[in-house]
Amino acid sequence: MNTVCVILAAGLGKRMDSNLPKVLHKVCGIPILQSVTDTARKLKTGKIVVVTGKHGNLIKKALDSPDISYALQEEPKGTGHALMCAKQDLTGFQGILIVLNGDTPLVRAETIKKFLKLHMKNKDAVSVLSFRAENPDDYGRIVRDASGQLLSIVEQKDADAMQKKIHEVNSGVYAINHDLLPLLDNIKINRKKGEYYLTDIVAAALESGLKTSAYCIGAEDEFMGVNTREELYRASMFMKKKLIEKWAGKGVTFLDMDSVFIHAGVTIGKDTTVYPNVYLEGRTKIGRRTTIYPNVRILDSEIGNNVVIKDSTVIEGSTIKNRATVGPFARIRPGSEIGTEARIGNFVELKKAVIGKASKASHLSYLGDTRIGQGVNIGAGTITCNYDGKKKSMTVIEEGVFIGSDSQLIAPVNIGRGAYIGAGSTITKNVPPFALAISRVEQKTIKGWAKKRQAILNADTKHKGKRQKGNHAK
Ligand code: UD1
Ligand code: CA
Repeated sequence: MNTVCVILAAGLGKRMDSNLPKVLHKVCGIPILQSVTDTARKLKTGKIVVVTGKHGNLIKKALDSPDISYALQEEPKGTGHALMCAKQDLTGFQGILIVLNGDTPLVRAETIKKFLKLHMKNKDAVSVLSFRAENPDDYGRIVRDASGQLLSIVEQKDADAMQKKIHEVNSGVYAINHDLLPLLDNIKINRKKGEYYLTDIVAAALESGLKTSAYCIGAEDEFMGVNTREELYRASMFMKKKLIEKWAGKGVTFLDMDSVFIHAGVTIGKDTTVYPNVYLEGRTKIGRRTTIYPNVRILDSEIGNNVVIKDSTVIEGSTIKNRATVGPFARIRPGSEIGTEARIGNFVELKKAVIGKASKASHLSYLGDTRIGQGVNIGAGTITCNYDGKKKSMTVIEEGVFIGSDSQLIAPVNIGRGAYIGAGSTITKNVPPFALAISRVEQKTIKGWAKKRQAILNADTKHKGKRQKGNHAK
């Protein structure tokens, strides 16, 4: 059977009170509409058409999916009008039109496939997927006759007292046979809202003597529409819980499932342990047997196996290789790579820094625009001075180098293999392999200086004391 999927996403989303189009708000790191298009793709329909409005360009950019066609609804005149706007993308199409709302991020392809089977089996002209809502106020009510036959869908605003009591509601998922499309032209404007309601296609089909059905196979959580910030929060919490349960099912230990946040694009290996209050975001990949201690945020990064990320560490756009240790209180900025068995300790900041195998920077350093070889020791307080106020320059530290504590390396500069930098040095020139470079002022030691100073101080206090007494006597 030929199918086409049309996703309605041109609404203003006024209830969100946002400058961003509603469907681009994110649930677990993914724009709401993208979750819907991902689901649509799984249905393997011939075409996916997204109806957008004045924010069309923003939406196209965010989805960045060449397989999607876009239809324009210049003014948001309702869901019925939105589908009409997709008509020219459907010329000549014969088959079933699957319509989805762009604001239901939790909808699953399996449920829609089940729904489609029912639609085809019962030879409906139009059918709607429904579910029972605990609080139905946000949804259109499914009105049936005594025999259970679907009669119409009535929105909260238009519902009478009896209809308001109905808990079976419209999910916004429809299957419509192509020959019903002309019926869209017959839909009358809803006077209360000034919109053309797609839901009215049910009554219109019945009037034409066609078969309509509502299949109550949905669950409230799955079909929840996001109209407000509160609903956005609820959808996020629901998806987050599902994601954590999924990874727990694949052998990941969470010490506190409630306080961990995981984006949909994240993967986590078996036997990894995640402590409370951890955020794993974007396209982050975590390996096996890795431990992530509390208050860590990792974005778009790849973490290897048996890695330890200690408390309060932030890692963005970087790679951490197997058996490395990072933190506590480390900041790993984009473009960094921490080699196998390397150690990055507390209060160390990396930016575009490549750290070789088994190298260490254990305390209080800034390492930016730098390439550090294997087995290097970076002493506490070492700074790569990569910025001269205009441009950034590279520091290259070759394998086996020892940088003494509190050194500044003024880039561009190259420290040759196996060289030593004396603590407290400011290095401005390249250092050849196996050399010692030291640039601090030579130490001066004055014997007995402190004692002499004390004697002077004592004498001074005595003198002052006498003067004060004298003043008092006068
Ligand atoms: C709609 C249904 C309601 C159903 C609910 C399910 C109608 C009249 N009501 O209500 O029966 O229970 O969805 O979530 O259809 N849109 C456009 N153009 C417009 C208006 C809306 O493209 O002019 C899009 C929106 O971007 C959104 C979807 O259609 O993705 C639904 O619109 P929304 O305004 O959220 O409808 P609801 O009031 O939630
Ligand atoms: Ca909605």
